[in-house]
Amino acid sequence: MHDYGRRLLDLVAKAYRLGLLAASLPVTLGEFFRPETGAAYGVDLSTKLLLVVRMARTNLAVPTGSSFVEHLVIATKALRIPADSDGVLVECGAYKGGSTANLSLVAGHCGRELVVFDSFEGMPEPDDDDREHVLIASGQRHTYDADAWEAPLSEVRANVDRYGELSACRFEAGYFAETMPAFEEPVALAFLDVGLRASAETAIEELWPLLTDGSYLFTHEAKHMEIATLFFESEWWADRLDTSPPGLVGAGSGLGLHPGASGFSSLLAYTIKSPARETFETVTDDGRENVVDPRED
Ligand SMILES: C[S@@+](CC[C@H](N)C(=O)[O-])C[C@H]1O[C@@H](n2cnc3c(N)ncnc32)[C@H](O)[C@@H]1O
Repeated sequence: MHDYGRRLLDLVAKAYRLGLLAASLPVTLGEFFRPETGAAYGVDLSTKLLLVVRMARTNLAVPTGSSFVEHLVIATKALRIPADSDGVLVECGAYKGGSTANLSLVAGHCGRELVVFDSFEGMPEPDDDDREHVLIASGQRHTYDADAWEAPLSEVRANVDRYGELSACRFEAGYFAETMPAFEEPVALAFLDVGLRASAETAIEELWPLLTDGSYLFTHEAKHMEIATLFFESEWWADRLDTSPPGLVGAGSGLGLHPGASGFSSLLAYTIKSPARETFETVTDDGRENVVDPRED
């Protein structure tokens, strides 16, 4: 096929995916648009629509590893935190500050600080287990070297200043192993986008005891088997945190947010610290109550 034909096909495929993404937003962001989301912070529908536009703009303007749709899913959970509940929002892994800018907008609306941990010099030297990650759902191998995803603090600050809410942010510069042990504040929500399993281990080990019960911990490595499996490893959780593994919603394929060749997926997954099980609906799993009706979700 001629170059021109291939470019045209690529363009049509891209437009089709964008159209699908736009059409799916009322579903994927259904919880975000519910009136109760943000009500405790005075965030109404017009504020939410503006947030969607601002976050999409950040994604277009700043090279960013995660998407504004993923940021809006995180925003939904932040806007659902009871207003009288203590705690900061935490981001581990900022790169150029695209995700930071978007999360800082949410932090501003919630009246919470966004604490941003990053070396601002890229990733540390990966150990042998972290040199290559397998993403079965994408049919990809991701390889890592020291300094990958490097972006200086000055660039991050400038992007957050332009597209986010700089006054809501506090930056903790340095490798996690150096900066996180001194951090001891209650955490209401955490977003980890760190690439390496070793970095995820450090962040989880330091943040888990600080997370308030019922709060969300997101990871942007849902498809990385090396990281997704960590949330199920009994021995690791017993040794490091004296608890049982919490599991991970979206492990292996992520939350269904972005249209792709084999359905909707993403890199975003989450777990909840000590969820209030007594508030969950009880379903008798006996083939009567829980048969599938394709007309329902
Ligand atoms: C994938 S990028 C983050 C992408 C960003 N959240 C976005 O959406 O554009 C990973 C980030 O984690 C940081 N990072 C990874 N391991 C780290 C560690 N052990 N200490 C400090 N920073 C680390 C890197 O410097 C890099 O900025």
